[in-house]
Amino acid sequence: MRANAVSSPISYERNNIRINMYEENAKIQFDELKNKPDAIILGIESSCDETAAAVVRGGREVLSNVIASQIEIHRRFGGVVPEVASRNHTLALPNIIDQALKEAGVTASDLDGVAVTFGAGLIGALLVGVSAAKAYAYAINKPLIAVNHIEAHVSANFIADKTLEPPFCALVASGGHTLLLDIKGYNEFEKLGGTLDDALGEAFDKVARVLSLPYPGGPNVEKLAKEGKPNIKLYKHPKGVRQDLSVSYSGLKTAVVNYVHTLEQRGEPVPVADVCASFTSEAVGLLAKTAAECVRRSGRSLLALAGGVASNGDLRAALKAEGAANGFSVCYPPHVLCTDNAAMVASRAYFTAREGKGLAGLDLNAKSHVAF
Ligand code: KG4
Ligand code: ZN
Repeated sequence: MRANAVSSPISYERNNIRINMYEENAKIQFDELKNKPDAIILGIESSCDETAAAVVRGGREVLSNVIASQIEIHRRFGGVVPEVASRNHTLALPNIIDQALKEAGVTASDLDGVAVTFGAGLIGALLVGVSAAKAYAYAINKPLIAVNHIEAHVSANFIADKTLEPPFCALVASGGHTLLLDIKGYNEFEKLGGTLDDALGEAFDKVARVLSLPYPGGPNVEKLAKEGKPNIKLYKHPKGVRQDLSVSYSGLKTAVVNYVHTLEQRGEPVPVADVCASFTSEAVGLLAKTAAECVRRSGRSLLALAGGVASNGDLRAALKAEGAANGFSVCYPPHVLCTDNAAMVASRAYFTAREGKGLAGLDLNAKSHVAF
């Protein structure tokens, strides 16, 4: 039994020859993507709790965008349980990929490449997508393209606005990141600022949790904030925009937690809607001013929003007000392209491949953190 389980040197060698042939062929096909404006790419996304696959033509035309959310599965735990997320990605992904191809009306042979988020995100969850994408790309003999999740979020704007071109500034605000970027070119991103500690989405989720609101926190805090008044002074923010264009959310988050716990210990009612409104006003206000300063310093005339928190109406309104006062416009994708999806992954891959970047070998690994 044991002897049979170990590959003989001959089959090893055959395997290596096959892999080398695949990789050589993938490189040739990948190079052709530079001159293929209507390239059709399958995107795969599994970095957190959405299992997603999508087919996108020419980086901007979504042929299908299938998302299986695990929100209901994780809700009972109050947040994403990484191991549970990985297992559910494994169960969902094969069907989601089939469905994406079917809805797009394409077959594997129509695809020009298979793109996958390799980082940043939950390592186990990422590994499911990366392994599936490798196996699929190898099986259908198409190039594998590695995509950075944060860059993919920005690319959602190229889908939403077919005429959008760099340069512009971008604010990526998600559960894991709050970044201010100068998008100098399709493949030239410079970090201008961002959070020093918690991401904005993370702060929304933690505030929701202390208020016993269901997961995911952001949309629920937004809903209640509409019914409340921003009349609670939660936190003495350092005045004005910081010179290094950083923001910080851990102090504000702790202030909310302390405020709620103090009332609970005294047996007094917590004004949940007012806490939501006050937290949102603080969190969004400073970020909007910092984003406006990024746009001013970089000399851009447009700020594009991306990531789950870009769905937030208060954030959009605060940034639009800054834009109106300081002479820049603000754009953002529809909700379905703000939160995690695979259309943005396929779109990002198109724009990297067009400049000969992003081709991955079958040794591609997932990364929980990606430097920016
Ligand atoms: O981009 P995303 O789907 O996943 C990550 O890459 O993290 O973002 C998820 C985050 C969560 O923290 C969620 O609470 C937040 O985005 N979010 C919102 C809203 N919708 C989603 N936060 C505030 N207001 C919203 N409407
Ligand atoms: Zn995301």
